[in-house]
Amino acid sequence: MKKAKITVLGSYNTDITLNVPHLPTDGETVFGTQMKYNPGGKGSNQAVAAHRAGADVTFIAKVGCDGMEKVGFELYEKTGLPTDNIIRDETASTGVAAIEVDNVTAQNRIIVVPGANMRITAGEVREREDIIANSDILLLQLETGREAIIEAVKIAKAHKVTVVLNPAPFSDVVFDIIKDVDYITPNETEADMIAPGHDGNFQWAASDIIGMGCKNVIITIGRQGSYYKGVKGEFVVPARQVKAVDTTGAGDAYNGAFCTALGEGKSVKEAMTFASAFASLSVTRPGAASSMPTKEETEEFMKE
Ligand code: RIB
Repeated sequence: MKKAKITVLGSYNTDITLNVPHLPTDGETVFGTQMKYNPGGKGSNQAVAAHRAGADVTFIAKVGCDGMEKVGFELYEKTGLPTDNIIRDETASTGVAAIEVDNVTAQNRIIVVPGANMRITAGEVREREDIIANSDILLLQLETGREAIIEAVKIAKAHKVTVVLNPAPFSDVVFDIIKDVDYITPNETEADMIAPGHDGNFQWAASDIIGMGCKNVIITIGRQGSYYKGVKGEFVVPARQVKAVDTTGAGDAYNGAFCTALGEGKSVKEAMTFASAFASLSVTRPGAASSMPTKEETEEFMKE
């Protein structure tokens, strides 16, 4: 089978994960049960997911030199993800995320301080034009500097490389690039922010997003699975039900795995089915990047 070649331009954060018996309300103090430093950041999580799912991945990112980046490099070494295109900025702090995980529901709340992630420049992306040009897919999220994202999309389009945008966290840079995006993969909240006014009706939101010029919309709808609307029609791929312990990075797992399968030449529906199984497995383990399963584990799980 063809190995997918994927370039991920995105963020690295060290996640400070705090497990709590319930998420605090305004003004409430809650005793946590555990604190861990985990490798995170949507870009890094998606790069690790694609790598574990079997793709040949180049990860373009920027980190500081404050020691916070070490957690990520330890994981890259363990998993074998190349780090040649992770740029170091001596004057910036590494991105960090404070994450509260509810021990009962496995849901989370996240605050990101992006630091070095926002300092990656259009010029640094341009220097890597060949890498993007030689990829099957460019995968982006929105935790990275605006100009860098716009430049990467421009390069991908010039070289007819498929662009997949996970618009998380939502930012209005979406509207600058949407016409050149082949697949956009919001969750329901992000879909509503891109195309507001549909009172949670994600099918209508998808139609509006297509009207903005994007060819294919995939909306992740939590435990229900994922919904597709685009050039291949309209359908839902249901999710497998599992006992979740930590949903952090579930969307990242989905995006990394989806791009891998699509880059291998699978159909959109097959790629969504693989991504959904991969993401389901990831939520049965704690952490974000460290919870990503392998391709083999996912294929076994799909036979069950
Ligand atoms: O999608 C989960 C990720 O969002 C976390 O790893 C955190 O770093 C934030 O970027």
